[in-house]
Amino acid sequence: MTTTLITGANKGLGFETAGRLIAAGHTVYVGSRDEERGRRAAARLGARMVLLDVTDDASVAAAAKTIEADGGLDVLVNNAGIEGRLEGNLVAGAAETTADLMRQLFETNVFGLVRVTHAFLPLLQRSAAPVVVNVSSGLASLTGMTAPGTPAYAYPGVAYPASKAAVNMITVQYAKAFPNMRINAVEPGYTATDLNGHTGTQTVEEGAEIIVRMAQAGPDGPTGGYFDAEGPLPC
Ligand SMILES: NC(=O)c1ccc[n+]([C@@H]2O[C@H](COP(=O)([O-])OP(=O)(O)OC[C@H]3O[C@@H](n4cnc5c(N)ncnc54)[C@H](OP(=O)(O)O)[C@@H]3O)[C@@H](O)[C@H]2O)c1
Repeated sequence: MTTTLITGANKGLGFETAGRLIAAGHTVYVGSRDEERGRRAAARLGARMVLLDVTDDASVAAAAKTIEADGGLDVLVNNAGIEGRLEGNLVAGAAETTADLMRQLFETNVFGLVRVTHAFLPLLQRSAAPVVVNVSSGLASLTGMTAPGTPAYAYPGVAYPASKAAVNMITVQYAKAFPNMRINAVEPGYTATDLNGHTGTQTVEEGAEIIVRMAQAGPDGPTGGYFDAEGPLPC
């Protein structure tokens, strides 16, 4: 039996991933920072719910304790994330980017991911086949962001791509440090969710594809990589 925790799984890509992994036989914990939203999502999915705010040490420690007491963890999907759009669904470009905005994005997307991973490492190390999936973005790729004529090149934001580039680096370093684990970063693609005011061009079913696939990586699967549904991506 595979036990899986997905952070920020009360909606969007995390919710879809939870449903697909339950269908594949996983026992899934829906991580949610809001109890009511989490309970509703878990009830719809037939999942377990764990209260988990990735920006809060005490919340993450309590979630780890609960899951440890229930029997441990095999798969961690670090999915919770924010893009930090401004009023009117606008992306903050270089001129509007402040240190506070950077801090806010990094607090969730980077420090939150490290906080959760660090707290669950002891549980993952006890699993026979531990897996970590870090939900990154196509905007994390320096190669992509500097390729004229692509949608990534046209994206004006600073904080969100920088936070996801950090996620990719963290993925590589954790993968080297823990060779017994499969630890990969994934790019779901531009997906219609609350994160982008539903401007994304893909469905959550399409977006969740690579998350679900990497969550099921076997012991011979890749580690330290960065993938979308089509295959490896350039860093
Ligand atoms: N949509 C895209 O086009 C796209 C593309 C590439 C990558 N991604 C990445 O995919 C992941 C999921 O995004 P999504 O598109 O599904 O967005 P979403 O629908 O807005 O879902 C984001 C989830 O993260 C949760 N969250 C935010 N801050 C949190 C915190 N401090 N603690 C715990 N949970 C928190 C949200 O909870 P609340 O409901 O409480 O706010 C929500 O459950 C993110 O990492 C995002 O960067 C998305």
